[in-house]
Amino acid sequence: MSRNHPFRAFSPPAALSPLLAPLAPSVRAVCLLALLLALGLSSCSRNEEANVWALTSPDGDLRLGVELRDGALTYNLALANTEVIQTSRLGLVADRFDLSQDLHLLDYATHQHDSTWDTVWGEERTIRNHYTALDLQLRSGEGRRMDVQFRLFDDGLGFRYRIPEQPGLQEFNIMDEVTEFHLTENSPSWWIPAYAYRRYEFLYANTRISQISRDTYSRQVEDLSGRPRIGPEAVHTPFTLQRRDGIAVAIHEAALIDFAAMTLAVDGSTRLEADLIPWSDGVKVRTQAPMDSPWRTVQVAEQATDLLSSRITLNLSPPNRLADTSWIEPGKYIGLWWEMIGTNQSTWTSGPHHGAKTERVKEYLDFGARYGFDGVLVEGWNLGWDDNWCCTGDGESFRFYDAHPEFDMDELSTYALGRGIRLVGHHETGTQITNYEEQLERAMEYAAENGIRVIKTGYVTDVSQGIKRWDEDGNLHREWHHGQYMVRHWRKVLEAAARHQISLVVHEPIKDTGLRRTWPNMVSREGARGQEFNGFSPKDYNNQVDHVTIMPFTRLLASPMDYTPGIFKLTNYRFNAPDDRTINPDYHLPSTIAKELALYIIIYAPMQMAADLPEHYEGHPMFQFILDVPTDWERSEVIHGEIGEYLTIARQDRHSDDWYLGSVTNEAPRYLEVALDFLTPGRDYRMTRYADPEDGG
Ligand code: NOJ
Ligand code: CA
Repeated sequence: MSRNHPFRAFSPPAALSPLLAPLAPSVRAVCLLALLLALGLSSCSRNEEANVWALTSPDGDLRLGVELRDGALTYNLALANTEVIQTSRLGLVADRFDLSQDLHLLDYATHQHDSTWDTVWGEERTIRNHYTALDLQLRSGEGRRMDVQFRLFDDGLGFRYRIPEQPGLQEFNIMDEVTEFHLTENSPSWWIPAYAYRRYEFLYANTRISQISRDTYSRQVEDLSGRPRIGPEAVHTPFTLQRRDGIAVAIHEAALIDFAAMTLAVDGSTRLEADLIPWSDGVKVRTQAPMDSPWRTVQVAEQATDLLSSRITLNLSPPNRLADTSWIEPGKYIGLWWEMIGTNQSTWTSGPHHGAKTERVKEYLDFGARYGFDGVLVEGWNLGWDDNWCCTGDGESFRFYDAHPEFDMDELSTYALGRGIRLVGHHETGTQITNYEEQLERAMEYAAENGIRVIKTGYVTDVSQGIKRWDEDGNLHREWHHGQYMVRHWRKVLEAAARHQISLVVHEPIKDTGLRRTWPNMVSREGARGQEFNGFSPKDYNNQVDHVTIMPFTRLLASPMDYTPGIFKLTNYRFNAPDDRTINPDYHLPSTIAKELALYIIIYAPMQMAADLPEHYEGHPMFQFILDVPTDWERSEVIHGEIGEYLTIARQDRHSDDWYLGSVTNEAPRYLEVALDFLTPGRDYRMTRYADPEDGG
């Protein structure tokens, strides 16, 4: 049998044997049923005892088993001879019908796909989309129709539910998704809690799968035990684990367009179950037929570093919907920001220390223009900050096209454009969605009128109080950060931004699921514990040294991140208060300058910030790296790494033959050998090396 034969259940019976050998005897029998079905023997199609399909990935290494037995649909997944996901249920439960049991096969089809597509920007120019497909058409005993589509890539599996158009399904609600991911081994895993007050902004816990709980999380620097317990015991995705044999698995989703975000509910075993974040009334998804769920993805790699090269979520997302992308420009920005959140010397609010004053912004613009930056972010430029907006969930006074009297937008936008640089907009919404949506179109128009091409948005609110939503009758409801309400809002903002040729860098975002392919103006987002925690958290609670060696294997599998690297002043940087300029000794950045530089390679972002103050960069020899490093790549090569230990990545500039290599480690000092075999043989290269002085900084 050909190693590359993708769909073996339909090979002649003799050829089936090698495939079936590792499977249970009952499976062997039912595969033959599937074969007879393929030959069109209708007597078999009425035999609903069981149908089994077996798929292999294009390179032959991943094997997917799908089974419909006694009305229940299940799947399992193996890499070579190692089963990583054992028999796991599939299905949806809606308010008026159940598509998780009593399922019957109507038809099926298979095909192979192999194409390439070019990114507008990214970790590489060209991406190959190569998979084996199985599409099942099913009906429930009640006569409701559902298709389940499987795509098996060399680097993992994607599957989704499709509810085709059918009578009586103009509107319905999904109440539950029963999809399971039943791991075969109780492996170490890296996770952050879902339904927790700080959205995605947590350090990663590292426990065996069966030990995941908010109680075990309290062993981390941050203790959740005092926080109200709301929502199920669940973790966010991407969720990553690594088996004893080294195989790494990451579970996530692709194309979350109009659905609830999926978290993974845990129950003390190795069985994870899809848990959709509900609306306030308990409904998981409000929808209508035809409907596609997001793809559920399982990336599988022989070693953890291979996860970083997987592009499943991008391949499973719809292609670019923007006809003209010439205005989407990767680049670098500085910002009037760290002096608020990091050094604590100025404020977002009005008063003697208000940062966004015209003259101070001009200094940033001069510095940015002098060194060739593309933008200057200015926070606190608008009205609304003076009310108590933050953590109590207020922020209804935020105005998105009314500048603070001390910030002269006309003068500054002209000043910036005259120097070949642009302002980067800032829309902190306080998660007051109605307030923001009412101003949205005009806010984007206003930004564009002022030469702004990128806006940083923000959704700070303490999630345990919920996000305010008013229904048509004016009643107030409280919604979760990652439910369908916010997923819809997120798309609305993205589309409004695109209409005005604006790209977004979203803080407190909906997680990325590959949609930067569909809307390439979605350039970057936070969605993790970023550099800001090193500003406002004292040493015991800051990001900890190993954080950036875990994130690439977890959160960063989803998308670029606005981590905001590049802090050069690592100690003695924070004042007690804007009007008390005593240095607070409790703050220390858990990094070194060389490590801060390496983050420009390790944490991919098409729009990278140089986060420190101009005066901390001016004259510093290592600043040159920040000036040189590109943010758009031709190729990326993951050299070596281990989750939570170290990581080395090399990337080639999209617009030259230059390569950039970054390496980070946790607390452990190490010497790492790097084979430079990604370089063109026979060519001479000159290397510039940036390293820390012996004392670290
Ligand atoms: C939280 C964001 O992550 C941070 O970058 C921003 O400065 C504040 N919110 C205020 O909007
Ligand atoms: Ca944040």
